Parts: sequence; structure tokens; C-alpha cells
Amino acid sequence: MEHAVQVELLQKLMKQLDDGVNVDAGVMLKNKASAYTCPDMAKREWETFFRTHPQIIGLSGDLPEPGNFITVEDFGVPVLATRDKEGTFRAFHNACRHRGAMVTTEKRGKQAKFTCPFHGWTFGSDGALIAVPMEDHFGSIDKSCHGLIELPAVEKYGFLWVHPDPKGEIDAEALLGGLAPEFDSWGFDQMVNKDGATYAMDLNWKLAIDTFGETYHFKRLHKNTLAEGFYGDVQCYDIFERNHRMILCVKSIDDIRGTPTDNWKMSNGGFPVYYLFPNIQLNVGAAGMTMVRVYPDPKDPNRSISQVSFYFRPELLAAEPEKLMQIAHNFGRVIQGEDYAVAETTQRAAQAGLQDYVIYGRNEPALHHYHNTYRSALGLEPLEVFE
Ligand code: FES
Ligand SMILES: [Fe+2]
Repeated sequence: MEHAVQVELLQKLMKQLDDGVNVDAGVMLKNKASAYTCPDMAKREWETFFRTHPQIIGLSGDLPEPGNFITVEDFGVPVLATRDKEGTFRAFHNACRHRGAMVTTEKRGKQAKFTCPFHGWTFGSDGALIAVPMEDHFGSIDKSCHGLIELPAVEKYGFLWVHPDPKGEIDAEALLGGLAPEFDSWGFDQMVNKDGATYAMDLNWKLAIDTFGETYHFKRLHKNTLAEGFYGDVQCYDIFERNHRMILCVKSIDDIRGTPTDNWKMSNGGFPVYYLFPNIQLNVGAAGMTMVRVYPDPKDPNRSISQVSFYFRPELLAAEPEKLMQIAHNFGRVIQGEDYAVAETTQRAAQAGLQDYVIYGRNEPALHHYHNTYRSALGLEPLEVFE
């Protein structure tokens, strides 16, 4: 992010604090509570946003060296992602070409070959079928056309994108909607992965996304945790096509007041939180970034799974590993134990069906944008103004 923009955003936060105001969407919107429970809507979302849309599965740091691999199974197509011998990011359907067993069920690791546990067919990290045991018994197989089914894979700005459709297209710039230069400046491509968490919760995937969309709840829900380090009820908010960026206000912003702006940097007083359509939240701090990938449970609109991954600037992680891991896991615990825990209660209310609608306030513009963005992608009308 350009220095001038960092200063401008920090100054905006200071002014909001001084004036006692927050961002203002101008109107309130209302959404049907059934948006969080409707099986038909869930089915369309699954097809449109997960089965047929490019997916971010991690950062370059998840595949640090040739031979590293990760597997994901969050959006209907099991994926084996590798860094091949040449260092290229590749992605494959994690399904053996014999009878479809997963060639590995490990979440991550390092190996040049994948031997299917069922009958032992072996594939390289480039997907090529290398060996078929007992081929004289089995029959002759043309290995050149029985490699793992390859999926479109793009590595750019530190992100790993996979398309679940072998014929799908990934246009990183279009997906980022103008955020590419800014992401470049945060150096996501240099970050290393360490740990993460999986939260399977009784809440619709959109409710999980909603919890990241405002700072109105900081002083209340997070009074004993995040509110110690953040000012709630202020934020900067900007839209980047289908994505958006919030800048949360860190209390240390008070320390730079009156100091020369030449020395200011975002992490002195701001904490960027990005939403990338359709299901990614990025929380960017001085030491690294926490990525949250949110997925519906395709069998139940009332459930979702959040995959949380912690990434760090390597030199900072090396200097203070325990401290940084503790901060990261504490953040994860706040997401699960406070945000998602309360969202599970709102899910139960939506399921009870007595409350027709929920209201998104003027101070919750991220919710306005998010809900209207996915609605537009589903061909639905924008949300009604609440009066
Ligand atoms: S299913 Fe993989 S070797 Fe048979
Ligand atoms: Fe929260």
C-alpha cells in the first residue's frame, strides 16, 4: 500500500475518533433471515461460488519447496496441490486414475511421488502416472493419458488459486479487483505458514463472513479480548469490485499523533481486513496475515467450516516464535469462541423462523456490499432499504 494511502487512512481513523463518528453507508438494509437457512439458496451458492468459481487454497508459503504438497477438500472437488520438480505450482484432482481412491489423505507434506493406498498406482508431483503394479496381471495401460486430472492453477501475489473445473479459467487481476498492487506491497509471497485451525460450526457460511464485517461489536462482544487492543465503532471502508477492505483501528494509533507522517506506517495504528469474493477473509498485521477460508456444508445450510491459516514474515517468526504463535492462536480462539459462538445463536434464531428479517446498520457497510454482491452474482435483487 502506498505510503500516502497509509497516512490518509490513519488520519481518517484519527478524525473518526476525534469526531465520534464511524463510516456511514447512509441507509440501513434488511435481509430475510431465511437467507441463512434456505436450502435452495444454499444449493445455488454451492454451485455458483464453490463448484464453478476459482478458489484460493492458500499462499505460496504453503508450498515452500519443490516436492511440497497440500490437499484440500472444501469445495466438492478433492485437490492435491503440489510444487513440482521445476518449482511450478500444480493442482490435480486427488483421485487415482484406477478406481478413484485419494492418492494421499495427508493434509500437507513433502514427497516426490504419490502411491495410491488401494492398489499402489504411483503418480509424480507433476501428476504423471509412473507405475502400475502387476501390469502383466492388470492389463496394459497407456500411462501417458492416465495421469492425475489436472486443474487450472495460478500462483500470483502470493496466492494459490485453483479452479475446480479442469476447463475453468483463473484471471488473478480480475479476481482481485484492483487490490493486486496493494497485496504485492504486503509481501504475501514471502510469508511462511505455521499452524492453523479448522472450525466446524453450526452456522451458515454467510454468517461466518458477516462476523468480520463491522467493528460495532468490538466493545461489546470482544470487551475482554480484542477491545483491549482495538478501538471499535470506527473503521475505514473501501470497495474493490466484488471485494472490500476494512481498516480497523489499533489503539497504538494514539502513539503516532503529532509525530511526522513520514515515519507512519499502517501497522502503527491500522489493521487491514480484506474480504475476497466469495469466501476469503485476510487479516493483515505487522508480523503476518491470518487467512480464513469459509465453506458451506453442502449437505446442510445451517453448518459451515472455516479453515484458518496463519502466515508470518519469516524473520519475525524466527525472532519471536512463541509470542507470535500465541497471538495467532488467541486470535483464532476469539473467532471461534466469541464471533462464531454468538453467530451460532443467530443461526438458531434464523432456523426458529419467528424473526422475518435481520438489519444491517449504516455502520455496517461491509455487510451491505457483501450481501448485495453475492445476490447480484446469483441474479437476485439488491437488499431492501430498511425504514
Ligand atoms: S484405486 Fe488407486 S491403485 Fe486402485
Ligand atoms: Fe469479531
